[in-house]
Amino acid sequence: MSFFKLTIRDVPLDHQTVLVRVDYNVPLASDGSISDDFRIKASLPTLNYLLERGCKLVLISHLGRPEGKDKKLSLEPVALRLAQLLKRDVRFVSETIGDKVYQAVKRAPGSSITVLENLRFYAEEEADDQEFAKKIAKASGARYFVQDGFGVVHRAHASTHAITFFLPSVAGLLLEREYSTITSAMESPKRPFMAVIGGAKVSDKIPVIERFIDKADKLIIGGAIANTFLAYKGINVGASKIETDQYPVIDRIYDMARQKAGDKVDEFIILPTDLAVAKQASADVERRVVDLGSVESDDLALDIGDKSIEKMITELKPARTVIWNGTLGYAELPAFAHGSARLALALATQTETMSIIGGGDTADFALKWDSNSGASFSHISTGGGAGLELMAGDKLPGVESLLDARKQIEYTNSKHK
Ligand code: ADP
Ligand code: 3PG
Ligand code: MG
Repeated sequence: MSFFKLTIRDVPLDHQTVLVRVDYNVPLASDGSISDDFRIKASLPTLNYLLERGCKLVLISHLGRPEGKDKKLSLEPVALRLAQLLKRDVRFVSETIGDKVYQAVKRAPGSSITVLENLRFYAEEEADDQEFAKKIAKASGARYFVQDGFGVVHRAHASTHAITFFLPSVAGLLLEREYSTITSAMESPKRPFMAVIGGAKVSDKIPVIERFIDKADKLIIGGAIANTFLAYKGINVGASKIETDQYPVIDRIYDMARQKAGDKVDEFIILPTDLAVAKQASADVERRVVDLGSVESDDLALDIGDKSIEKMITELKPARTVIWNGTLGYAELPAFAHGSARLALALATQTETMSIIGGGDTADFALKWDSNSGASFSHISTGGGAGLELMAGDKLPGVESLLDARKQIEYTNSKHK
């Protein structure tokens, strides 16, 4: 399936100056060091493609949610890490617009990279300000704009939307791969197609759950959200935090599910049959597995239980496509990471199954679990919110605003008239 937007492969950008929006919003440790460079590594195919073609690259990104300039959120350390990964010089300019940027890019040779300072040091970025976008385009001296920050394309900001008014704008290779992989799994999956949804809050996952009810052959629910589903069904989940305000939404979900699965609804939406509990969520507590009905009033349900894990593994065996979003327990604590770890193992060993992992915490977990740097799965998404919105079927402003693939035909035709 060809991508519906023009990509860097479709335009003549050899030896041009190219402005590239990446998502280098990486997690930082308390000492300010980069604790995970997955998003930086994921940008390398696009950067290498452009460097090989002699392009002068100007990279823009946000980092964190600063209010004004905040040294702790400078992109300089990210530029350094990029230089280490690429084993080449990377220039850094401590501004994002203006003459200092213009002069620095002008001086840079072909096949070079200049990283500009954090876009969100300017309030205009999140305001999708056209003047600001114009200033970025001007300072960079770029001929093309490349959107490759998949993680941020659900935002309509100056660097994902307004910028496309000022430069011909195409997709990078990461954006293309993320978008195509996720949409083709949602639209034309190899079946059986199963979704495993966990995580912290029902409200975060409602749109995706509803879409999966429509598209998937089975839904397995775990994590804290399963506690709310169980409580909705009248099962005691002790002191676990539940979202009773979501009951009307769960009503709607079950109505939709019943239309599809009739009285087999509990084989279509699979909830845990036992739970791993503790009196508190801390590293020194033991994992206690109890059947539903045996949860004590001061217990917290922190993971799916062992029978639920076995059931999940059995259910997933025939699947040819699995999308996993949301950890199945409080996976930051090893005692409550069993469900997520067993799921990761099942997906890594079921080599016939297309496995797509999305969500910030879930991707983090899968990457830490995998000694193969994520290669044990078909796809680990770099997008948290963006991936969820794409799975839910929403349009993403940072993708929609790129040039349509159709336009290439018009462009080629007009050239040959
Ligand atoms: P993602 O970022 O992958 O979309 P979420 O943010 O929705 O995932 O969920 C991950 C968070 O949910 C983790 O911090 C995890 O500890 C928490 N979580 C999952 N299950 C439970 C549970 N049973 N009790 C408490 N927290 C949980
Ligand atoms: C993310 O980490 O999800 C993206 O970089 C977007 O960041 P934001 O949620 O601060 O807009
Ligand atoms: Mg999260």
